[in-house]
Amino acid sequence: MSRAGVDRALRRSFQRRLLKWYQSQGRDLPWRRTRDPYRILVSEVMLQQTQVERVLGFYDKFLKRYPTVAELASAPPSKVREAWDGLGYYARARNLHRTAKQVLHRHGGQFPRRYEEVHRLPGVGRSTAGALMSFAFNVPTPILDTNVKRLLSRVFIHRPSPTPAQMERRLWRLSTSLIPNGETWAFNQALMDFGALVCTAKNPRCHTCCLSDMCRAYPKLTRGGVQRR
Ligand code: ADE
Repeated sequence: MSRAGVDRALRRSFQRRLLKWYQSQGRDLPWRRTRDPYRILVSEVMLQQTQVERVLGFYDKFLKRYPTVAELASAPPSKVREAWDGLGYYARARNLHRTAKQVLHRHGGQFPRRYEEVHRLPGVGRSTAGALMSFAFNVPTPILDTNVKRLLSRVFIHRPSPTPAQMERRLWRLSTSLIPNGETWAFNQALMDFGALVCTAKNPRCHTCCLSDMCRAYPKLTRGGVQRR
């Protein structure tokens, strides 16, 4: 046993299998073709409460209208809202607009690279900050969105912690301890895709899952033959 209570061999195996899965099954998404922190921020904010398929219909359009942080910062709020129309949860658009202004005025137009500064931007929670640090700068930083929580809980957690707050802390430690050296970008993208495509909330694809033999939840999830091929 070691970091976050996960055996080193188990951790290695999880990393290797997930990265291998991502190489052949990971999605080619527009925000994975850039390392521009502004473009990555726009995608992560859109993805906070909206499914990938829906975001795909808005992402390029939004960036065509506001290709740089400076152009977004100087746009009138009503126009930003218009560009966000159809995505819902408009607080996200307001926060993104405020973030663009802060980047322009407080950071001289350069996106901050320090975790603490990124996390302080409006609408950027801990997991979004982790996504930005890992996807824009490849800095080993954990993520923990709903899909990742479900995946890590199922694979590694035998007995849940007594309180939700303790469980949350444990999952953050786990997500931190699992990041493989030098592979943060691919590993965190892989966690997200695996949670969205294989380890789904309803009808997880356990019968084709490359982690099933190490998964704590596998016997429970497949009991009763529901998961048979
Ligand atoms: N959800 C949040 N961030 C994501 C990303 N980078 N790729 C796919 N789904 C996501």
